[in-house]
Amino acid sequence: MTAALPPYRRDGMQAHPPRDHAAYRSTALRHPKQPLLPLPHSMTELTQPMLGTGAIGELDHDLTQQHPGEPIGERIIVTGRVLDGNRRPVRDTLVEIWQANAAGRYIQKEDQHPAPLDPHFTGVGRCLTDNDGRYRFVTIKPGAYPWKNHLNAWRPAHIHFSLFGTAFVTRLITQMYFPGDPLFPYDPIMQSVREESDRQRMVARFDMETTEPEWALGYQWDIVLRGPETTPPDPDEDH
Ligand SMILES: [Fe+2]
Repeated sequence: MTAALPPYRRDGMQAHPPRDHAAYRSTALRHPKQPLLPLPHSMTELTQPMLGTGAIGELDHDLTQQHPGEPIGERIIVTGRVLDGNRRPVRDTLVEIWQANAAGRYIQKEDQHPAPLDPHFTGVGRCLTDNDGRYRFVTIKPGAYPWKNHLNAWRPAHIHFSLFGTAFVTRLITQMYFPGDPLFPYDPIMQSVREESDRQRMVARFDMETTEPEWALGYQWDIVLRGPETTPPDPDEDH
């Protein structure tokens, strides 16, 4: 039965951050001490739970409409396609995002840095891709925020993405960045992806076609789930 399931291309491992990245201190505690052994994909990896469409609310994709009032900040549209390792669209797949508000503050109680919360912004959204593999979110551009990795450490503005794809082997947790951010060279998380060409696959493209007059700036960002052009995964899922 396993033989009838589609094979998945191996990722281009150079796009993956190293498991232990000294500049990103907490990775020291979060990786296996032994070299990884590639195993053949079996039923466990080539299948996934069925995620029914009924679980997605009508406004789950619009983070600006989840409260009675509008959140503060720069309204943006973030859209793109989810593609497999052969650049074919991945349809009806769950895309989840979470992010800081316009002031760079997360709603989680663990985030206590001195920036305001926004009562009209939770910072969590989800949607399913359409027949072309396209997702679309309306949200607020997140602010940069400090973290305690080292003195004066600031994260570039980013949105966290989580995708299931078509099987557990296509599971991807990553971050989307905004073009031209001056914090890129100083961010150990982004720089843990070693090649500039791989890092660029995490940066969205400003797009005037997506931009809507009198409403919101638009960004395009395609996500590749497997293979040599895979979107680099997040070295850590907490930030
Ligand atoms: Fe973050």
